[in-house]
Amino acid sequence: MSGMSAYLSNPQIWQESWDRQQEAFLPDREERFAAMLSAVAATTDGVAPRVLDLAGGTGTISLRTLARFPRAQVTVLDQDPVLMAIAAASLRDRGQVVDADLGDAGWRAKLPEEDFDAVLTATALHWLPAERVATLYAEIREVLRPGGIFVNADHMPEESLPTLSERLDQHARAEREARYAAGGATAWSVWWERAAADEFLAPRAVERERIYPRTRHSHEWTPPALWHVDALRVAGFAEAGVLWRGGTDAAVAGVR
Ligand SMILES: C[S@@+](CC[C@H](N)C(=O)[O-])C[C@H]1O[C@@H](n2cnc3c(N)ncnc32)[C@H](O)[C@@H]1O
Repeated sequence: MSGMSAYLSNPQIWQESWDRQQEAFLPDREERFAAMLSAVAATTDGVAPRVLDLAGGTGTISLRTLARFPRAQVTVLDQDPVLMAIAAASLRDRGQVVDADLGDAGWRAKLPEEDFDAVLTATALHWLPAERVATLYAEIREVLRPGGIFVNADHMPEESLPTLSERLDQHARAEREARYAAGGATAWSVWWERAAADEFLAPRAVERERIYPRTRHSHEWTPPALWHVDALRVAGFAEAGVLWRGGTDAAVAGVR
């Protein structure tokens, strides 16, 4: 295997390092995924759900879906060439990877189908502006079968707890910095430097710079969970509410 990058020989290694990097931000990351997949189990036959992993990155949600439902049909949609390459290498023939920009209403035309049991997303939609998220919710509803579910987990602080939320965020930041200092986790920037140094991922990292220029990706819009719940109702979901909460993060769900 000499000369072969870690990507080609073992994409699992990149999955593990991505997880450690993300867990530094979200120590309860797996809990939110488990809550999403319990909602999928409760609303499908629990055998072969059709799941769209929206802004799915390395396919984290898809891989956990397949671990829980081995006959699931999973589709990862993203636009990051580095993360999509890791997703494709990890899924191989067990799922599809679709390259599309959620900032553009045309993303649906790139899907292999429009009748999903569940659309699941995590730590991603805060990259989009408010008005786009509200419109996107209506578009997501359109790709769900009747009774299908949408779940979005992200930073959604509780509006009625401003002081406590700030304290929780400060505490989380301090723990994260302590992990970085002790080598217990890899910082976001360091992870990307390592990806850019990988023989296979390097050209994709260059392409990524074109899609997410360093100067542009500073935007983070993280309204409270109730904003999302209202937006889901306006988008036409029959039911909308909070499925899971952990500190200042939450997962909101909508039922078509
Ligand atoms: C922090 S990652 C989270 C990935 C994955 N859900 C996870 O939990 O590991 C955010 C993802 O959102 C994707 N993303 C952001 N804006 C997007 C857009 N406009 N269209 C498609 N994907 C987007 C990024 O490329 C990235 O993969």
